[in-house]
Amino acid sequence: MIEIGSIGEGNKALRAIQRNWAHYPVAAHGRARLLEEKLPRVSTSKLWEFPLELPSSPMGSWCLIDKQHILASPHGSRPFPHGEVHFIEDHMSPPNRAYLKLWEALTLLGHWPGPGDVCLDLGASPGGWTWVLHQLGARVISVDKAPLHERIAQLDRVEFRQESAFAIEPDLLEPVDWVFCDVACYPERLFKLLRRWLDSGLCTQFVFTLKFQGQPDYAIVDEFAAIPGARLLHLHHNKHELTLLLTPRTLLAPFFLPK
Ligand SMILES: C[S@@+](CC[C@H](N)C(=O)[O-])C[C@H]1O[C@@H](n2cnc3c(N)ncnc32)[C@H](O)[C@@H]1O
Repeated sequence: MIEIGSIGEGNKALRAIQRNWAHYPVAAHGRARLLEEKLPRVSTSKLWEFPLELPSSPMGSWCLIDKQHILASPHGSRPFPHGEVHFIEDHMSPPNRAYLKLWEALTLLGHWPGPGDVCLDLGASPGGWTWVLHQLGARVISVDKAPLHERIAQLDRVEFRQESAFAIEPDLLEPVDWVFCDVACYPERLFKLLRRWLDSGLCTQFVFTLKFQGQPDYAIVDEFAAIPGARLLHLHHNKHELTLLLTPRTLLAPFFLPK
């Protein structure tokens, strides 16, 4: 909390901490706009093209809570204005908008599959994530009880298995480099699925969505979070769900993502 007597004082105080500040409008709007104009320009509506390198400079957020007080946070958990990354969307190729949360997850991870990688995509239909992984050049084994969108099923390097994700035995499958899972199921069931893969030791890179109905059960969230290296995030593109990232990169300490 910074007490200010004038806009000039506010400008000086924020610049003394760091350069990039995104304004979150809350109160004293006219005065806040004047202060915003004095600070280096930060676009909160910038659209990013995936894939992208994570910006390296910290991004702070600030607001005026009244004419005399700035509430400011110099480091968000993500280096985007208010932690929100907005992408240039593709309205034609993917079958739904689920690709956006995978784009965001991979951007934060700073690492993604590429040519030569084999990805298992559990709960793949209609195929937004499969489309992302295919676009990146990977080969994809897509698993779902429901069919893939026709356009996605026809892609080269995409193999579809119409069965339950829970029926897949890691050691009966060909070696995979990544396991992605967006299956609609209870987190308890998802935890057992992840444990099975971890215990098999056959894959080290995981991106999973934990989906909640009503009030989340924090005990199971804690169980996921207790897995060494697991990072649980609420992404800008997540709804009533969390995204788990677990790869050798997330095991590194310090890793920029918060626990
Ligand atoms: C949110 S959708 C997945 C969206 C997908 N990631 C995409 O990008 O298009 C959840 C999917 O989980 C699938 N699902 C539910 N139970 C499943 C199971 N036991 N095995 C495989 N898929 C399952 C549903 O059929 C549904 O397609």
